[in-house]
Formats: sequence, structure tokens, C-alpha cells
Amino acid sequence: MVRRVKTGIPGMDEILHGGIPERNVVLLSGGPGTGKTIFSQQFLWNGLHMGEPGVYVALEEHPVQVRGNMAGFGWDVRKYEDEGLFAMVDAFTAGIGKSKEYERYIVHDLTDVREFVDVLRTAIKDINAKRVVIDSVTTLYINKPALARGIVMQLKRVLAGLGVTSIFVSQISVGERGFGGPGVEHGVDGIIRLDLDEIDGELKRSLIVWKMRGTSHSMRRHPFEITGEGIVVYPDKVLKRKGVVEL
Ligand SMILES: Nc1ncnc2c1ncn2[C@@H]1O[C@H](COP(=O)(O)OP(=O)(O)O)[C@@H](O)[C@H]1O
Ligand SMILES: [Mg+2]
Repeated sequence: MVRRVKTGIPGMDEILHGGIPERNVVLLSGGPGTGKTIFSQQFLWNGLHMGEPGVYVALEEHPVQVRGNMAGFGWDVRKYEDEGLFAMVDAFTAGIGKSKEYERYIVHDLTDVREFVDVLRTAIKDINAKRVVIDSVTTLYINKPALARGIVMQLKRVLAGLGVTSIFVSQISVGERGFGGPGVEHGVDGIIRLDLDEIDGELKRSLIVWKMRGTSHSMRRHPFEITGEGIVVYPDKVLKRKGVVEL
């Protein structure tokens, strides 16, 4: 039987028929504002309550802002950082400014994949992490798309070797099809796509599991909401072009 990592996001594990198979690298794709960051932070936070330490790699926002946004949902990770159960990798500030005084894991040069992997590996080993989020992997190869597949495969090898289950956030533009480019899409074990669609003058959120190695899963497009406590997915509803319908 395949061992699974529960996302703990209401409704999501039902769609995944139990959770994400252990050690999978899952691409979490979506346009701006679709909920990628919140989804991945909620995945890590829930892990902390299941005894699974987590690492969040911040490439898009300042680590201070990340902690603040998480605390806004009631996910205050500072206590867990002090206890060695949660680690923030600062791949945002390059160690410029005050961050070098209080961030323990800093990537100084994003063009140096080796340094990135070394810092990430150290953070994972230090806290014996079981879950990793990289938000976003797109930032690592935005200026060098030809290297995307190589970078994703290198990260995947390292992470699978360390026994962690990972979410790679992938940024796509509004209206773009696909998940972030051929090199990336084919390298990963799973793909979850988050969407925002305007239907009858209203933005509707939905997600679809496109691929998940090691398990069956719902093949439907499910609506979800973002609330003050995070994401809630509706496994009993489907988003069709005409709107949400009950199953
Ligand atoms: N407390 C909240 N309640 C409801 N929706 C929220 C809340 N906080 C943020 N959001 C929604 O989440 C969106 C940002 O989600 P985020 O995960 O940062 O998106 P992404 O990482 O995909 O760009 C905002 O545009 C807003 O619509
Ligand atoms: Mg984001």
C-alpha cells in the first residue's frame, strides 16, 4: 500500500483519494492570485500538527512578510522555528539588509543552483523535514527557460533522496494553458492546477488534479474558497462552464 502525506486542507485529501503519495514532487500551477502560496503554506502548517516538520523556501516574498501572512491565517510558525520543526529558507533577500542577522538559511546567489541545493539540504536535515515547499520554482529559471527541466530534475533527485514530499509552486500567466512549460511538467510526479475564472461577472476559484503518480484521484474540476482560515475545497461539487453544480 502506498504511504500518503495528508494535505489536511479540507476536502483536498478526498480529491486525492487519501493524500499525496509519499516522496512525490507535486507541481502546484496557477496564475497570479489563484491561491498557490496559501495552499502550500497550509500544507506545511497542517504537517506540523501531524508531527511532520516542514521547510518553506521563500523566493517571491520577504521571509518576514511570509511569516506575517501565515500568522494572518492563524499559522504562526515562529514557535515551530524555535523548536526546530519548521525552517524558512530565505532565497529572497540574498542576505542583504537585516535578514542576515536573523535568518538561519540564506541563499546568496540564485544563479548558483548548487548553493541553493546545499542550503535547502542543510535545512531539511537540520529539522528532519518531511515536507518541502519551493515558492516558486519558476523564479529559479525565469531568465533561463532552457535550464528549467535540468533544475527541476536536480531538485527532485535531491528531495526524493531525502525522503520528503514536495510542492513546487509554478507560476503561469493569466489565460495560459499548461502548467509551466514542457521541461517542468514532465519531470514531476504530480500536477495540481489552481484557476480563477470569470463566470457571469464573478471570479470563481477551482482546482483540478491533472496527474498524481501512485494513486487514483478525482478527475473533476472542484470549486474551492479562500477564507480567513485558509483554503476549503468542495469534493462534492464540480465547476462547469455554467457555474458550480452539486454532484
Ligand atoms: N483572508 C482572506 N480571505 C479570503 N481571501 C483571501 C484572504 N487572503 C488572501 N485571499 C485571497 O488570496 C489571494 C492570494 O492568494 P495567494 O496564495 O497569495 O496567490 P498566488 O500565490 O497564487 O499568487 C488574494 O488575491 C485574495 O483573493
Ligand atoms: Mg504566491
